[in-house]
Amino acid sequence: MRQIAFFSQKGGCGKTTSCVNIAAALGDMGRRVLAIDLDSNACASRTFGVLEDLENSVAAALLGLRPLADVIIPTAIPNVWLSPGAADLHGLEGAAGIADANRLDNSGRLSPIALKLELERLDPAQFDYILLDCAGGHPFIAHLALLACDEVIIPTGLSVYDLYAATPAMHLILMAREVRGDDKPEFLGFLPNGAGRQGVSERIQSKLDQYALPCLSPIRHSELLKTLAGQHDVLKRFVVLSRRKSAVAASFEQVAREIDSGVADEKPVEVAESVEVDDVMATPISEEGPQAKPLDSDVP
Ligand SMILES: Nc1ncnc2c1ncn2[C@@H]1O[C@H](COP(=O)(O)OP(=O)(O)OP(=O)(O)O)[C@@H](O)[C@H]1O
Ligand SMILES: [Mg+2]
Repeated sequence: MRQIAFFSQKGGCGKTTSCVNIAAALGDMGRRVLAIDLDSNACASRTFGVLEDLENSVAAALLGLRPLADVIIPTAIPNVWLSPGAADLHGLEGAAGIADANRLDNSGRLSPIALKLELERLDPAQFDYILLDCAGGHPFIAHLALLACDEVIIPTGLSVYDLYAATPAMHLILMAREVRGDDKPEFLGFLPNGAGRQGVSERIQSKLDQYALPCLSPIRHSELLKTLAGQHDVLKRFVVLSRRKSAVAASFEQVAREIDSGVADEKPVEVAESVEVDDVMATPISEEGPQAKPLDSDVP
């Protein structure tokens, strides 16, 4: 049972979109996938057409109110299950009245290993993958996820500002490794999100390459992903299923295959601690990015 976090403290870089679509792609490959929505906005849950309250959410499991196994529901997507998010995930670190002493840290607050404890209670034969959709800009949730998961993917948009998030995200991964003392989580790769027909622009790719870290194949930009977000047809939001032949679906499938085949195992896993964003950004970035190109990724 592989446990992979889609993590970045940068908001809007594609954590949720890639987490749920890669869940669907892995499900389509016959893998059994549990998606855990760790965002108080519950965007992943909404994508599945689910909106739950505290009692039926992963927050209840983290607080020790119910076992995680009891807050897992099937979804409309084949082979994909969901542990929904809820508004209560916000402010979880200050939660009071937690009865289970294992759930408390030294100062009497919810322990950041609460998620790890819950994942350990699951039957390891139940799922092939657990995908964690982290909340942007929520340090406690990030800590929960990084102390619990085995592997991390950092989705990143393709602007300079997006790349500024890469170094601090890597440092948080290193900090989690230090706390755990077990070389986990492993860094599976950056996941460039929003590429045009030409892929990631050479300049941005060269900046990512300077980290000397694994990089998964890019996810294509899709107007559909944006415009369908607010609508009610759940299945359409999963472009890997609703637009099987589109370029964006193919890009999610490609990444799902890369994850499944363990391609990252063959890549370097050491984190380059010394890469400074300002060094990485030394050369100017062209104004012309993938998003400026015609949007053609929703069609074959
Ligand atoms: N490949 C893509 N093509 C087009 N739009 C995309 C793509 N990926 C994500 N988006 C859109 O970008 C926005 C942000 O994406 P998403 O919610 O996945 O980011 P996030 O990192 O989960 O954000 P947050 O930090 O708020 O949780 C959404 O409107 C989504 O539909
Ligand atoms: Mg999100």
